[in-house]
Amino acid sequence: MTQPAGSPPSVELQELIAAMEQRRTKVEAGGGEERQRKQREGGKLTARERIAYLLDPGSFLETSTFVQHARNRLMDGVEAPGEGVVTGSGTIQGRQVFVFSQDFTVLGGSLGKRNAAKVTKIMDLAARTGCPVIGLNDSAGARIQEGVDSLSGYGEIFYRNAIYSGSVPQISAILGPCAGGAVYSPALTDFILMSRGSSYMFITGPEVIKSVTREDVTFDTLGGADVHTRRSGVAHLAYDGDEAVLDGIRHLLTYLPQNAREQPPVRENRDPATRRNDRLLELVTPDQRRPYAMHDVIHELVDSAEFLEIQPDWAKNIIVGFAHLDGRPVGVVANNPKVMAGTLNIDASDKAARFIRTCDCYNIPILTLVDVTGFLPGTQQEYGGIIRHGAKMLYAYAEATVPKVTLITRKSYGGAYLAMNSKDMGADVVYAWPTAAVAVMGAEGAANIVYRKEIRESENPAATRAELVAHYKETFDNPYIAAAKGYIDDVIPMEDTRHRLIQTFAMLKDKQEQRPYKKHGNIPL
Ligand code: HXC
Repeated sequence: MTQPAGSPPSVELQELIAAMEQRRTKVEAGGGEERQRKQREGGKLTARERIAYLLDPGSFLETSTFVQHARNRLMDGVEAPGEGVVTGSGTIQGRQVFVFSQDFTVLGGSLGKRNAAKVTKIMDLAARTGCPVIGLNDSAGARIQEGVDSLSGYGEIFYRNAIYSGSVPQISAILGPCAGGAVYSPALTDFILMSRGSSYMFITGPEVIKSVTREDVTFDTLGGADVHTRRSGVAHLAYDGDEAVLDGIRHLLTYLPQNAREQPPVRENRDPATRRNDRLLELVTPDQRRPYAMHDVIHELVDSAEFLEIQPDWAKNIIVGFAHLDGRPVGVVANNPKVMAGTLNIDASDKAARFIRTCDCYNIPILTLVDVTGFLPGTQQEYGGIIRHGAKMLYAYAEATVPKVTLITRKSYGGAYLAMNSKDMGADVVYAWPTAAVAVMGAEGAANIVYRKEIRESENPAATRAELVAHYKETFDNPYIAAAKGYIDDVIPMEDTRHRLIQTFAMLKDKQEQRPYKKHGNIPL
C-alpha cells in the first residue's frame, strides 16, 4: 500500500534511511579523527576538504561511495572506508569536471584494485562526456597487501591516462607523498602542480636509496616541489599549501577547453585591443648588448599584463605560458635573452616542445617571440643529445595545426631561427620589429669565417676585421633581406604590436589544416 502524500515515512523506511546515513557517515569519516588530525597537523587538508575547496560550492556529485576493498587473506578484517579515494564530478566556474582525491588517512591512500576501479570509472565518464579530469594525489603507492592486483590497478589508470591524453585535459595536484606507481599516473597527465614542503614525488624513497646506493637524502631534497620545478622539470608549478594549489588548478582551467573538440573559453576583455605599446620603444633598443626582460614584453602585449607562466623556474632560457589577446587564450613561447643569452639547450627544447604540443591538443593558438643566437654549443649538450632534443621543437611546431604567429624582436640566427617557428616550419604569419636581424650567425662569427683570408692578409687585421664586421652588419643584420624573400610577412612598428597580433589571430581564428593519414607521428624522444 502506498503512503498518502505528506504523511511521515513509515518506521521501516526511516530505519533504512538511517542505516544509509550511518554507512555514509562512516565512509565520510575516512581513516578517522586521529589520522585526520595528523593530516591537518602536517599542513594538509583532508581528501574531502580538498574537493570542497576545489569545486563550486555544493556542486560535488559523489560516485562509488560504498565501494569496499577487494578481499584477500591479508586484507581480511582490514577496514578501508571509501577505499582510500573519494571520486565524483562537480563544476569549476560553472564548467563540469571529474575529480578523484586520494585519502591518505585510509591505508596511506594506497592503491588497491577497487580503489583503482573508482578512479577509472570517473576517467571513463570524463572521456565520454568530454570533461577534464583532476587528480588530487596523496598516496603511498601500490597497496602492498593486494600485491599484483594493485599493480594491475595502476596499469588500468596509466592505460587511460595515455588513451585520453590530448582528448580531455588531465591535471594532477601532488599534495602528499607520492611514491612508486603513484608518480607515473601524474607523469602521464598534462600538468603537475605541487605543494611546497608537504608533497614529494619519487620512484624509490630515501630508505631504499640508502640501501642501494648509500646516498643520504631527505624526502625534500629527493623529490620535493623545488626539486621537480627547478631541477628535474617533472612538475609545472609549485605553491605554498593545498589551497594555493587548488586555486592554481581553477586558474589553469580558465585557459583550457573542456576537450579537444572545443575551443578554449573566451573571457571578457577590458584592455583595449588598440592600446599602443610605446613602452616597447624604451625597452628593446637596437643595441644588441643591452638585454631586456622578455617578460616585460609579454606583459606589455597581452590583456591586462596577465601571464600564467608554466615551468617558470626550470630551463629559464625559454619562457612558456598562457595569456589572453582580446579575451582569447594564447600560448606564448619566448626566448629569454637574460638567461644564457636566450640560447636553446636540451631542457629548453623539451620544455618548449611539450608546451607547443599541449597548446595544439587543446586548440590554443601559439605566439612565438624570437630573440635567439642559436643552440648552446658544447660537449655537454652534444653528449646529452641536443640533436635529439632540439628536434622535438622542430617537430612540435611543424606538427601543430593551431594558428601560429611569430614575432622576431631582435636576433634570430641559424638553426634556432628555424626551431623558433619560422615561416618554413609552418608559421602562418611572421612579423619582425625594425630591431630584428635574421642571419645564419652573428656578424662577428660570420666575418671571421667569410672574410678569413682578407683579415689574415691585411696589413692591419684588427681594423680590417672591424670594417668587415660593420659591412656584414649593414648588409645582413636586419630584417629586410628575409622580408624581401617573403620569410617575414611584415616589419611592423613596435608600438602597434598588440593591435597587430590581435588582428592577426582574429584573421586566423577559423584556420583548418589537414595532415596526411597516419596512426600517429613518431616524435624524436
Ligand atoms: C599499504 C600502506 C602503504 C602501502 C603506507 N601504508 N604505505 N599501506 N600499502 N604501500 C599505511 C601504513 O601502514 C599506515 O597505516 C599508513 O599507510 C600511513 O603510513 P605511515 O608510514 O604511517 O605514514 P608516513 O610516516 O607519513 O609515511 C608515508 C610514506 C611511507 C613515506 C608514504 O608510508 C612509505 O614509505 N610507504 C611505502 C611506500 C612504498 O614503497 N609504496 C610502494 C611503491 S611500489 P596506519 O594503519 O598505521 O595508518 C609501487 C609499485 C607500482 O607503487 C609501480 C607501477 C609502475
